[in-house]
Amino acid sequence: IKKVPLFSQLNEEQLGALAQICTRRSFKRSTVLFSEKEVGSVFYMVLSGSVKIFTTSSSGEEKILSICKSGESFGELSLIDGKPRSASAQTLEDSVLLTLTGQSFLDLLRTNFDITLGIMQELSSRLRDTNQQVFDLTFLDARTRVIKSLIKMANKHGLRNGTTITIKLVLNFDEISQLAGVQKVTLMQVIRDLEEKQILTLSSSDFKLDLAKLR
Ligand code: CMP
Repeated sequence: IKKVPLFSQLNEEQLGALAQICTRRSFKRSTVLFSEKEVGSVFYMVLSGSVKIFTTSSSGEEKILSICKSGESFGELSLIDGKPRSASAQTLEDSVLLTLTGQSFLDLLRTNFDITLGIMQELSSRLRDTNQQVFDLTFLDARTRVIKSLIKMANKHGLRNGTTITIKLVLNFDEISQLAGVQKVTLMQVIRDLEEKQILTLSSSDFKLDLAKLR
């Protein structure tokens, strides 16, 4: 539980009490944890692995809103406002999650202001991120959106070595295009172009980006 930044302010006794009410659960890759519009009853924290948060259009196309990694949490909105799930959640790899019932989550918010503040900070950060996505989708062309998404993935999930960043390929190309908000064919054109310019190197398990050249 100490791994979850939301709980970093708790003392040993509070962490012990929290451990009693959390459940640790392992999920296989591609498990749908919940779907958009369902009634929400559980709060999730990622201990290891990763989870994609996404919405689906009526024709079945997906838009990935965010990727949650170790230490991050999701599923709080429907518990706070009592409305249906605002998005779907699915594991991208084998993942270990901590879950808390809706009632326990709300009790925790009522009794511990630091945790409430942590949730407010998380919601503020997501609103800023969403504003940025609205800006990008409104004002940037598809190629620039792909490049911005690659830089964002590199900064959030990459391993840096000088100006080169290696990013483990947890997302497939369909998913990267859903994250960037572009058609897959556009993504592949940009990737091919970056490969030709030796800015990007693809292998089966990861890709390497020369950030200095890319910028
Ligand atoms: P909830 O609506 O209960 O279920 C879906 C969850 O996805 C939601 O709570 C949030 O935790 C998360 N979520 C929804 N929209 C976004 C977004 N734009 N960015 C990041 N996470 C989101």
